[in-house]
Amino acid sequence: MDYKARTKVARILIDEAVPVGSNVIVLGWVRTVRSSKEIAFVEINDGSCMKNIQGVIQNPAAFPVLEQILTGASVRLEGSLVPSGGKGQKYEISVSRLDLVGPADATYALQKKRHTMEFLREIAHLRPRTNTFGAVNRIRSKIAYAVHSYFQERGFYYIHTPIISSSDCEGAGNLFRVSSFDFKNIPKKEGHIDWDSDFFATESFLTVSGQLEGELVATAMGDIYTFGPTFRAENSNTSRHAAEFWMIEPEMAWAELVDNMDLAEDFLKFLFRYALEKCTDEMDFFGQWIDKEVRSTLESVVTAEFERLPYTEAIGILEKSGESFQYPVSWGLDLQSEHERFLTEKVFKKPVILYDYPAKIKAFYMRMNEDGKTVRAMDVLMPKVGEIIGGSQREERYDVLLSRMRELGINDESYQWYLDIRRYGTVPHAGFGLGFERALMYITGMANIRDVIPFPRVPRWAKF
Ligand code: 4AD
Ligand code: MG
Repeated sequence: MDYKARTKVARILIDEAVPVGSNVIVLGWVRTVRSSKEIAFVEINDGSCMKNIQGVIQNPAAFPVLEQILTGASVRLEGSLVPSGGKGQKYEISVSRLDLVGPADATYALQKKRHTMEFLREIAHLRPRTNTFGAVNRIRSKIAYAVHSYFQERGFYYIHTPIISSSDCEGAGNLFRVSSFDFKNIPKKEGHIDWDSDFFATESFLTVSGQLEGELVATAMGDIYTFGPTFRAENSNTSRHAAEFWMIEPEMAWAELVDNMDLAEDFLKFLFRYALEKCTDEMDFFGQWIDKEVRSTLESVVTAEFERLPYTEAIGILEKSGESFQYPVSWGLDLQSEHERFLTEKVFKKPVILYDYPAKIKAFYMRMNEDGKTVRAMDVLMPKVGEIIGGSQREERYDVLLSRMRELGINDESYQWYLDIRRYGTVPHAGFGLGFERALMYITGMANIRDVIPFPRVPRWAKF
């Protein structure tokens, strides 16, 4: 099918690497066809870039196939590359041959008009063919590459932590089960489910975080990161929560909370700068169609110094603000997104790193402060998006960790492996998790997490 002989549209219109006059073969999907007696235009997109290439047919009567070519069809188009007279494109193809590969009829859902994001979610199998999702999918790929570049260039090793896990890292209980039991006939022993006879001989789940295993490897290799899917069965139907999302989790041996904050801030700025400098076509698209301010927002963040503020001070600011929040604020309560947004958008007008949270509202593994009430946690909050990163310095003291686990009713026997790295050569260490989709929401200006991942998984929705 001329897979090797064809020229990708990006090579023609972005790289401008194809000389005028060359014979080119382009394979792609038809966006629009316009034809009259004298002339016809077939605009096609091959997914390699935002731009469509236009095929021009000077003698439509000699191309009877034109009648069968409608929006959505796949075609092979061959001809000579010529400078374009039309606006918005530098080159076009003077078509000498046109083949219909796969037809599409008038029932094709993506006719040329704007569709709502809600409608496009219903047809997530077709939405990759829209400009918006082309741009989203391309920038997702490029930013994933940037994540790897950032860490690889700084001596962090990429570690693959397991997706199936028998522990609940965050302790929030939002776990999806993994089992090979026949659900119609679950083995029981003395009235209880007999997990011992299940595949892993223990209750197991899809992981909520790669952190615990990340710590094991960081305390051998120094600096590591994970980048993989994570799963949470929180029934929160918000625009910022997905049941399956990708998380980037660096973990650094010998690092303390301030090192963790420095890394988080530098890493985010690197990703945003990368988007501005290396993803210009996509960013132009998002600026034009999704959020007019997306570029200036990113530009202001890459030069800003993030505010660093203890949780206790943040509560003070919120209490004195005179704002009437839907949820109450007082020391010891978790911040809601309205509070986070108030701090980032109204008070500081830039990203804020909140730290030293009450132990009560944070996970078991965070390092206890001298005050015995707060832990060395940090959340990076962004204007509009709210929490984008959660992290902490880890509790490296065996006794302190053990007593905290017991206090929380965690069965420490099943975490012996985690405690062991505190028994043998323990070191201070710290790390964080960046929600990849939240970062993409910030970069693209897309308002709903369902629209920055190709096939979202959210409550009552696992289609496609
Ligand atoms: O704050 P979280 O729960 O932290 C952890 O999982 C730590 N184990 C990370 C670490 O220290 N290695 O989650 C980290 C980030 C959040 O800040 C948010 O960006 C994202 O993951 N996140 C979600 N993104 C989409 N949908 C959800 N349901 C998310 N839950 C968390
Ligand atoms: Mg968090």
